[in-house]
Amino acid sequence: MKRILSGIQPSGALHLGNYFGMMRPAVALQAEGDAFYFIADLHALTTVHDPAALRGHVRDTALDFLACGLDPARSCFFRQSDVPEVTELAWILSTAMPMSRLELAHSFKDKTARGLEASHGLLSYPVLMAADILLYDSDLVPVGRDQKQHLEITRDLAQRFNDRYGAPVLRLPEALIAESTAVVPGLDGQKMSKSYGNALELFAEEKALRKKVMGIVTDSTPVESPKPTEGSILLALHRLVASPEDAARMEDEHRAGGVGYGDFKKRLFAATWEYFAPMRAKRAEWAADPAAVDEVLRAGAAKARGVATEVLARVRQACGLR
Ligand code: ADP
Ligand code: TRP
Repeated sequence: MKRILSGIQPSGALHLGNYFGMMRPAVALQAEGDAFYFIADLHALTTVHDPAALRGHVRDTALDFLACGLDPARSCFFRQSDVPEVTELAWILSTAMPMSRLELAHSFKDKTARGLEASHGLLSYPVLMAADILLYDSDLVPVGRDQKQHLEITRDLAQRFNDRYGAPVLRLPEALIAESTAVVPGLDGQKMSKSYGNALELFAEEKALRKKVMGIVTDSTPVESPKPTEGSILLALHRLVASPEDAARMEDEHRAGGVGYGDFKKRLFAATWEYFAPMRAKRAEWAADPAAVDEVLRAGAAKARGVATEVLARVRQACGLR
Protein backbone atom coordinates (compact mmCIF):
# COMPACT_ATOMS: atom_id res chain seq x y z
CA MET A 1 0.00 0.00 0.00
CA LYS A 2 1.40 3.39 -0.97
CA ARG A 3 2.06 5.98 1.68
CA ILE A 4 0.52 9.29 0.66
CA LEU A 5 1.50 12.43 2.52
CA SER A 6 0.81 16.13 2.30
CA GLY A 7 0.73 19.18 4.50
CA ILE A 8 -0.53 22.72 4.53
CA GLN A 9 0.71 25.71 6.47
CA PRO A 10 -1.72 27.22 8.97
CA SER A 11 -1.06 30.73 7.81
CA GLY A 12 -4.42 32.07 6.63
CA ALA A 13 -7.86 31.16 5.31
CA LEU A 14 -8.14 28.23 2.91
CA HIS A 15 -8.74 29.35 -0.67
CA LEU A 16 -9.81 27.79 -3.94
CA GLY A 17 -6.18 27.31 -5.02
CA ASN A 18 -5.44 25.29 -1.90
CA TYR A 19 -8.62 23.31 -2.31
CA PHE A 20 -8.35 22.37 -5.98
CA GLY A 21 -4.55 22.22 -6.04
CA MET A 22 -3.99 20.14 -2.95
CA MET A 23 -6.90 19.36 -0.69
CA ARG A 24 -9.33 17.82 -3.15
CA PRO A 25 -6.68 15.54 -4.70
CA ALA A 26 -5.43 14.61 -1.22
CA VAL A 27 -8.91 13.74 -0.01
CA ALA A 28 -9.59 11.67 -3.13
CA LEU A 29 -6.37 9.71 -2.58
CA GLN A 30 -7.48 8.53 0.86
CA ALA A 31 -9.24 5.67 -0.85
CA GLU A 32 -6.09 4.52 -2.58
CA GLY A 33 -3.42 4.39 0.03
CA ASP A 34 -2.26 4.95 3.54
CA ALA A 35 -2.69 8.70 3.89
CA PHE A 36 -0.84 10.99 6.30
CA TYR A 37 -1.93 14.64 6.29
CA PHE A 38 -0.64 17.28 8.60
CA ILE A 39 -0.81 20.91 9.64
CA ALA A 40 2.63 22.46 9.04
CA ASP A 41 2.76 24.71 12.09
CA LEU A 42 6.57 24.69 12.33
CA HIS A 43 6.71 25.99 8.77
CA ALA A 44 4.16 28.67 9.60
CA LEU A 45 6.56 30.11 12.18
CA THR A 46 8.49 31.55 9.25
CA THR A 47 5.66 34.00 8.68
CA VAL A 48 3.17 33.92 11.60
CA HIS A 49 4.69 35.53 14.67
CA ASP A 50 1.61 36.08 16.81
CA PRO A 51 0.95 33.06 19.05
CA ALA A 52 -2.80 33.62 19.28
CA ALA A 53 -3.03 33.95 15.51
CA LEU A 54 -1.04 30.77 15.02
CA ARG A 55 -3.26 28.81 17.40
CA GLY A 56 -6.33 30.16 15.60
CA HIS A 57 -4.95 29.23 12.19
CA VAL A 58 -4.10 25.73 13.37
CA ARG A 59 -7.64 25.21 14.62
CA ASP A 60 -9.08 26.62 11.40
CA THR A 61 -6.84 24.44 9.25
CA ALA A 62 -7.91 21.35 11.18
CA LEU A 63 -11.56 22.25 10.61
CA ASP A 64 -10.88 23.01 6.93
CA PHE A 65 -9.29 19.64 6.31
CA LEU A 66 -12.06 17.77 8.10
CA ALA A 67 -14.72 19.85 6.33
CA CYS A 68 -13.21 19.03 2.95
CA GLY A 69 -13.52 15.32 3.55
CA LEU A 70 -10.45 14.16 5.44
CA ASP A 71 -11.70 11.00 7.08
CA PRO A 72 -9.95 10.44 10.41
CA ALA A 73 -11.03 6.79 10.41
CA ARG A 74 -9.01 6.28 7.28
CA SER A 75 -6.20 8.84 7.36
CA CYS A 76 -3.65 9.85 9.91
CA PHE A 77 -4.16 13.57 10.61
CA PHE A 78 -1.75 15.43 12.87
CA ARG A 79 0.07 18.60 13.78
CA GLN A 80 3.65 18.76 12.53
CA SER A 81 4.99 20.03 15.86
CA ASP A 82 3.48 17.04 17.70
CA VAL A 83 6.16 14.88 16.09
CA PRO A 84 9.41 16.55 17.21
CA GLU A 85 11.47 13.86 15.45
CA VAL A 86 10.99 15.90 12.30
CA THR A 87 13.35 18.63 13.48
CA GLU A 88 16.10 16.13 14.20
CA LEU A 89 15.78 14.64 10.74
CA ALA A 90 15.79 18.15 9.27
CA TRP A 91 19.10 18.86 11.00
CA ILE A 92 20.66 15.64 9.76
CA LEU A 93 19.44 16.32 6.21
CA SER A 94 20.74 19.88 6.35
CA THR A 95 24.28 18.51 6.47
CA ALA A 96 23.70 17.06 2.99
CA MET A 97 21.97 20.13 1.58
CA PRO A 98 24.00 22.35 -0.75
CA MET A 99 23.69 25.96 0.37
CA SER A 100 23.58 27.37 -3.16
CA ARG A 101 20.51 25.37 -4.00
CA LEU A 102 18.59 26.86 -1.08
CA GLU A 103 19.57 30.40 -2.02
CA LEU A 104 18.29 29.84 -5.55
CA ALA A 105 15.01 28.13 -4.59
CA HIS A 106 11.94 29.88 -6.08
CA SER A 107 9.96 30.16 -2.88
CA PHE A 108 12.87 31.73 -0.98
CA LYS A 109 13.51 34.20 -3.77
CA ASP A 110 9.79 35.03 -4.11
CA LYS A 111 9.26 35.50 -0.41
CA THR A 112 12.31 37.67 0.16
CA ALA A 113 11.47 39.68 -2.98
CA ARG A 114 8.09 40.41 -1.37
CA GLY A 115 9.84 41.81 1.67
CA LEU A 116 9.90 38.85 4.07
CA GLU A 117 12.99 38.82 6.24
CA ALA A 118 15.53 36.33 4.91
CA SER A 119 15.70 34.32 8.13
CA HIS A 120 17.58 31.06 8.38
CA GLY A 121 14.22 29.33 8.81
CA LEU A 122 12.93 30.74 5.54
CA LEU A 123 16.10 29.62 3.79
CA SER A 124 16.01 26.12 5.22
CA TYR A 125 12.24 25.74 4.74
CA PRO A 126 12.74 23.10 2.00
CA VAL A 127 14.95 21.00 4.30
CA LEU A 128 12.22 20.83 6.94
CA MET A 129 9.74 20.00 4.21
CA ALA A 130 12.02 17.20 2.98
CA ALA A 131 12.15 15.90 6.55
CA ASP A 132 8.32 15.97 6.70
CA ILE A 133 8.16 13.77 3.67
CA LEU A 134 11.10 11.43 4.27
CA LEU A 135 10.26 10.83 7.94
CA TYR A 136 7.19 8.83 6.92
CA ASP A 137 8.63 6.82 4.00
CA SER A 138 6.22 8.68 1.72
CA ASP A 139 5.60 7.45 -1.81
CA LEU A 140 3.26 10.11 -3.17
CA VAL A 141 2.90 13.76 -2.27
CA PRO A 142 -0.17 15.56 -3.70
CA VAL A 143 0.59 19.29 -4.04
CA GLY A 144 0.02 22.26 -6.34
CA ARG A 145 2.62 23.11 -8.95
CA ASP A 146 4.30 25.76 -6.78
CA GLN A 147 5.60 22.93 -4.59
CA LYS A 148 7.22 21.00 -7.42
CA GLN A 149 10.69 22.35 -6.73
CA HIS A 150 10.39 21.42 -3.06
CA LEU A 151 9.72 17.85 -4.10
CA GLU A 152 12.72 17.86 -6.40
CA ILE A 153 14.88 19.09 -3.54
CA THR A 154 13.44 16.35 -1.32
CA ARG A 155 14.29 13.60 -3.80
CA ASP A 156 17.72 15.03 -4.34
CA LEU A 157 18.39 15.17 -0.59
CA ALA A 158 17.22 11.60 -0.07
CA GLN A 159 19.48 10.45 -2.89
CA ARG A 160 22.47 12.37 -1.50
CA PHE A 161 21.89 10.90 1.93
CA ASN A 162 21.62 7.38 0.55
CA ASP A 163 24.74 7.87 -1.56
CA ARG A 164 26.69 9.31 1.34
CA TYR A 165 25.94 6.34 3.57
CA GLY A 166 25.91 3.75 0.81
CA ALA A 167 22.48 2.32 1.61
CA PRO A 168 18.86 2.89 0.56
CA VAL A 169 17.90 4.36 3.94
CA LEU A 170 15.44 6.99 2.70
CA ARG A 171 12.60 6.33 0.29
CA LEU A 172 12.40 8.65 -2.72
CA PRO A 173 8.91 10.21 -3.00
CA GLU A 174 7.07 11.44 -6.06
CA ALA A 175 5.09 14.65 -6.43
CA LEU A 176 1.53 14.19 -7.59
CA ILE A 177 0.36 17.31 -9.35
CA ALA A 178 -3.23 17.38 -10.61
CA GLU A 179 -2.52 19.01 -13.96
CA SER A 180 -5.94 20.55 -14.59
CA THR A 181 -5.88 22.39 -11.27
CA ALA A 182 -2.13 22.77 -10.74
CA VAL A 183 -2.33 26.58 -10.77
CA VAL A 184 -5.67 28.16 -9.88
CA PRO A 185 -5.71 31.84 -10.91
CA GLY A 186 -6.53 34.52 -8.36
CA LEU A 187 -8.90 37.46 -8.74
CA ASP A 188 -6.17 39.46 -10.53
CA GLY A 189 -5.06 36.62 -12.82
CA GLN A 190 -1.86 35.85 -10.90
CA LYS A 191 -1.56 32.54 -9.04
CA MET A 192 -4.15 32.57 -6.25
CA SER A 193 -2.31 32.96 -2.96
CA LYS A 194 -3.05 33.97 0.62
CA SER A 195 -0.25 36.45 0.44
CA TYR A 196 -1.25 38.20 -2.79
CA GLY A 197 -4.62 39.39 -1.50
CA ASN A 198 -6.22 37.83 -4.59
CA ALA A 199 -7.81 34.74 -3.04
CA LEU A 200 -11.37 33.45 -2.91
CA GLU A 201 -11.78 31.82 0.48
CA LEU A 202 -13.87 28.66 0.69
CA PHE A 203 -15.40 29.53 4.02
CA ALA A 204 -15.78 33.28 3.69
CA GLU A 205 -19.09 34.85 4.70
CA GLU A 206 -21.62 35.02 1.88
CA LYS A 207 -21.53 38.79 1.58
CA ALA A 208 -17.74 39.02 1.59
CA LEU A 209 -17.41 36.26 -0.97
CA ARG A 210 -19.97 37.85 -3.28
CA LYS A 211 -18.16 41.16 -3.05
CA LYS A 212 -14.85 39.55 -3.99
CA VAL A 213 -16.33 37.72 -6.97
CA MET A 214 -18.03 40.90 -8.19
CA GLY A 215 -14.65 42.63 -7.92
CA ILE A 216 -12.83 40.32 -10.35
CA VAL A 217 -10.94 42.39 -12.89
CA THR A 218 -12.47 42.21 -16.38
CA ASP A 219 -11.95 44.15 -19.59
CA SER A 220 -14.34 46.79 -20.95
CA THR A 221 -16.02 44.73 -23.69
CA PRO A 222 -19.64 45.98 -24.00
CA VAL A 223 -22.49 43.66 -23.02
CA GLU A 224 -23.55 42.89 -26.58
CA SER A 225 -20.07 42.03 -27.91
CA PRO A 226 -18.29 38.65 -27.82
CA LYS A 227 -15.80 38.34 -24.96
CA PRO A 228 -12.38 36.74 -24.89
CA THR A 229 -12.33 33.20 -23.52
CA GLU A 230 -8.57 32.71 -23.64
CA GLY A 231 -7.03 33.64 -20.29
CA SER A 232 -10.40 34.51 -18.75
CA ILE A 233 -10.22 34.33 -14.95
CA LEU A 234 -13.99 34.17 -14.69
CA LEU A 235 -14.21 31.14 -16.96
CA ALA A 236 -11.26 29.40 -15.32
CA LEU A 237 -12.80 29.74 -11.86
CA HIS A 238 -16.31 28.93 -13.05
CA ARG A 239 -15.09 25.71 -14.68
CA LEU A 240 -13.87 24.53 -11.28
CA VAL A 241 -17.17 24.93 -9.46
CA ALA A 242 -19.88 24.59 -12.15
CA SER A 243 -21.33 21.51 -13.81
CA PRO A 244 -19.75 20.75 -17.22
CA GLU A 245 -22.99 21.90 -18.93
CA ASP A 246 -23.08 25.24 -17.09
CA ALA A 247 -19.39 25.77 -17.76
CA ALA A 248 -19.84 25.08 -21.49
CA ARG A 249 -22.84 27.40 -21.61
CA MET A 250 -20.94 30.27 -20.05
CA GLU A 251 -18.13 29.78 -22.52
CA ASP A 252 -20.58 29.77 -25.45
CA GLU A 253 -22.14 32.97 -24.15
CA HIS A 254 -18.72 34.60 -24.02
CA ARG A 255 -18.22 33.76 -27.69
CA ALA A 256 -21.70 34.86 -28.74
CA GLY A 257 -21.90 38.13 -26.81
CA GLY A 258 -25.13 39.51 -25.36
CA VAL A 259 -24.37 38.74 -21.71
CA GLY A 260 -22.41 41.15 -19.50
CA TYR A 261 -19.59 40.42 -17.08
CA GLY A 262 -21.81 41.36 -14.13
CA ASP A 263 -24.13 38.52 -15.01
CA PHE A 264 -21.29 36.04 -15.40
CA LYS A 265 -19.91 37.07 -12.02
CA LYS A 266 -23.27 36.54 -10.34
CA ARG A 267 -23.37 33.04 -11.75
CA LEU A 268 -19.79 32.38 -10.67
CA PHE A 269 -20.65 33.46 -7.14
CA ALA A 270 -23.78 31.27 -7.06
CA ALA A 271 -21.90 28.22 -8.34
CA THR A 272 -19.08 28.74 -5.83
CA TRP A 273 -21.47 29.16 -2.95
CA GLU A 274 -23.35 26.01 -3.91
CA TYR A 275 -20.24 23.93 -4.57
CA PHE A 276 -18.96 24.45 -1.04
CA ALA A 277 -22.32 24.14 0.76
CA PRO A 278 -21.72 20.54 1.93
CA MET A 279 -18.25 21.48 3.21
CA ARG A 280 -19.67 24.46 5.09
CA ALA A 281 -22.17 22.18 6.78
CA LYS A 282 -19.53 19.64 7.72
CA ARG A 283 -17.23 22.36 9.01
CA ALA A 284 -19.98 23.66 11.27
CA GLU A 285 -20.46 20.16 12.70
CA TRP A 286 -16.78 19.76 13.55
CA ALA A 287 -16.57 23.33 14.86
CA ALA A 288 -19.32 22.48 17.35
CA ASP A 289 -17.20 19.68 18.81
CA PRO A 290 -13.67 20.95 19.50
CA ALA A 291 -12.93 18.00 21.80
CA ALA A 292 -13.48 15.61 18.90
CA VAL A 293 -11.06 17.61 16.74
CA ASP A 294 -8.46 17.52 19.51
CA GLU A 295 -8.91 13.79 19.81
CA VAL A 296 -8.41 13.27 16.06
CA LEU A 297 -5.15 15.22 16.19
CA ARG A 298 -3.98 13.44 19.32
CA ALA A 299 -4.56 10.00 17.86
CA GLY A 300 -3.00 11.09 14.57
CA ALA A 301 0.14 12.33 16.31
CA ALA A 302 0.49 9.07 18.22
CA LYS A 303 0.29 7.04 15.03
CA ALA A 304 2.59 9.39 13.09
CA ARG A 305 5.17 9.29 15.86
CA GLY A 306 5.20 5.52 15.73
CA VAL A 307 6.29 5.62 12.09
CA ALA A 308 8.63 8.58 12.65
CA THR A 309 10.62 6.96 15.43
CA GLU A 310 11.25 3.86 13.32
CA VAL A 311 12.47 5.81 10.33
CA LEU A 312 14.58 8.10 12.47
CA ALA A 313 16.18 5.09 14.18
CA ARG A 314 17.18 3.83 10.74
CA VAL A 315 18.65 7.22 9.86
CA ARG A 316 20.57 7.52 13.13
CA GLN A 317 21.97 4.05 12.68
CA ALA A 318 23.06 4.86 9.12
CA CYS A 319 24.94 8.00 10.09
CA GLY A 320 26.62 6.63 13.16
CA LEU A 321 24.58 8.32 15.85
CA ARG A 322 23.80 4.88 17.26
P1 ADP B 1 -0.46 30.11 -0.45
O1 ADP B 1 0.34 30.34 -1.71
O2 ADP B 1 -1.82 30.67 -0.57
O3 ADP B 1 0.25 30.54 0.80
P2 ADP B 1 0.25 27.48 0.38
O4 ADP B 1 1.67 27.73 0.02
O5 ADP B 1 -0.11 27.39 1.83
O6 ADP B 1 -0.67 28.55 -0.35
O7 ADP B 1 -0.22 26.17 -0.35
C1 ADP B 1 -0.87 25.04 0.22
C2 ADP B 1 -1.13 24.03 -0.89
O8 ADP B 1 -2.03 24.58 -1.84
C3 ADP B 1 0.13 23.64 -1.66
O9 ADP B 1 0.06 22.27 -2.00
C4 ADP B 1 0.05 24.48 -2.89
O10 ADP B 1 0.72 23.91 -3.98
C5 ADP B 1 -1.44 24.56 -3.14
N1 ADP B 1 -1.78 25.81 -3.81
C6 ADP B 1 -1.66 27.06 -3.30
N2 ADP B 1 -2.07 27.99 -4.19
C7 ADP B 1 -2.46 27.31 -5.30
C8 ADP B 1 -3.00 27.70 -6.57
N3 ADP B 1 -3.23 28.97 -6.86
N4 ADP B 1 -3.27 26.73 -7.46
C9 ADP B 1 -3.04 25.43 -7.17
N5 ADP B 1 -2.56 24.99 -6.00
C10 ADP B 1 -2.26 25.91 -5.06
N1 TRP C 1 5.33 23.87 1.79
C1 TRP C 1 3.97 23.46 1.74
C2 TRP C 1 3.10 24.67 1.39
O1 TRP C 1 3.49 25.80 1.51
C3 TRP C 1 3.49 22.88 3.05
C4 TRP C 1 4.25 21.67 3.42
C5 TRP C 1 5.15 21.55 4.44
C6 TRP C 1 4.18 20.40 2.77
N2 TRP C 1 5.64 20.28 4.48
C7 TRP C 1 5.08 19.56 3.48
C8 TRP C 1 3.46 19.90 1.69
C9 TRP C 1 5.28 18.22 3.11
C10 TRP C 1 3.66 18.58 1.32
C11 TRP C 1 4.56 17.74 2.02
O2 TRP C 1 2.01 24.46 1.01
